[in-house]
Amino acid sequence: MTKLTLPPQSKMSSNEFIYGVATAAFQIEGGIADRLPCIWDTFCAQPNKIVDSSNGDVACDHYNKWQDDIELISSLDVDAYRLSISWPRVITESGELNETGVNFYLNILDELQKRNIKAFVTLYHWDLPQHLENKGGWLNRETCYKFKEYADLISKAFGDRVYSYATLNEPFCSAYLGYEVGVHAPGKTGRENGKKAAHHLLLAHGLAMEVLNKNSPDSLNGIVLNFTPTYAVDDKAENIEAAKFADDYFNQWYIKPLFDGKYPDILQQLPENCHPDIHVGDMEIISHPIDFLGVNFYTRLVYKAVEGDFFEELSPTGQLTDIGWEIYPQAFSDLLLSLNKLYDLPPIYITENGAAMADKIVNNEVNDIDRIDYYQQHLLAVNEAIVQGVDVHGYFAWSLMDNFEWAEGYLKRFGIVYVDYQSQVRTIKASGLAYKDFISNRK
Ligand code: FCB
Repeated sequence: MTKLTLPPQSKMSSNEFIYGVATAAFQIEGGIADRLPCIWDTFCAQPNKIVDSSNGDVACDHYNKWQDDIELISSLDVDAYRLSISWPRVITESGELNETGVNFYLNILDELQKRNIKAFVTLYHWDLPQHLENKGGWLNRETCYKFKEYADLISKAFGDRVYSYATLNEPFCSAYLGYEVGVHAPGKTGRENGKKAAHHLLLAHGLAMEVLNKNSPDSLNGIVLNFTPTYAVDDKAENIEAAKFADDYFNQWYIKPLFDGKYPDILQQLPENCHPDIHVGDMEIISHPIDFLGVNFYTRLVYKAVEGDFFEELSPTGQLTDIGWEIYPQAFSDLLLSLNKLYDLPPIYITENGAAMADKIVNNEVNDIDRIDYYQQHLLAVNEAIVQGVDVHGYFAWSLMDNFEWAEGYLKRFGIVYVDYQSQVRTIKASGLAYKDFISNRK
């Protein structure tokens, strides 16, 4: 397959539907001399945390190549670009705006505006300033108020340049991967830490929503959550229950507080010391209305019941991407339909979807038909959910270009543009060309 197609009458085939590409600051920027250290710098410097022992010091050198990169984005004919702001680049340790950092983003936002590309800005894509981590990071309630101050200053500085603000990217990853199992920065462990961090992240989101709505009432303000739908290995009652528990633990934990103002009932089954520290009024702040929900989807997971724990996660089988995630597009439609049933949702934007593939560059071409196939199947899955009544307004490919894939370092390539990390040359892959072709042929 070399082309992407959708039924011509589909909402996704119209010009109203927003298509974009996404990146995140730490994964592409480099330019570390001009910003404060963040928890990922510290994490990368520890042995055995990153598979290829790499770090974000240079990454895609976007800090220096941003003009070329916007030219590249523009050449893909996308409607929108989702980027994240590096908190340690724009706020000093004493809490003031760092002019150099702010100007870096103002230039980008101005350039996007000139080219009629909508800016979808994420305020927190995991790069917590290290000085805040030194005071406890997301385990410290104070961090929520620091985030609110950051959101306040930066949204004032950006003025009307931003089409959409997301407070957080994937609080599940920050809380669970970063503070509960420790495979992401800052590498802390313990269920009590994971659940405490999750609550503070959600509180930070709610606090930031208040200031975003005040400073930037015309932008779409919301949050980006990731979902990995859970399936039972078979239809035995205990396995169905295990999968349901995992769903509440990994997925509903982050969305239910936003729309229902409470955590899933499984909270009662967790040991007392793992209950989040909920102050009076917190859940009202967390459930502040949002203008949109960002949904990130990559894969599903399968579970069964097990003695001595709430569930057992099975290793993925079937067709896998290069990062070992199962290709299961049906879960994307199932997810969107089930969220739509469970909650009173605002418009949805698919803020990330994509695949790591074992790309080979030959004669300056990357013929990633496997990735095109992934996109085709997942676009169809979104379309199916829309046909069945889900209100989806946009879709972003993860990622614009290959980049620092967190604990996997530079070994896993998610881009629709290939990056040669030695020369920093970018080459649009076949998937990028197919995406461009598809977008520009919309009615
Ligand atoms: C998501 C992250 C993004 C990227 C993709 C593959 O969880 O938001 O930064 O790493 O996974």
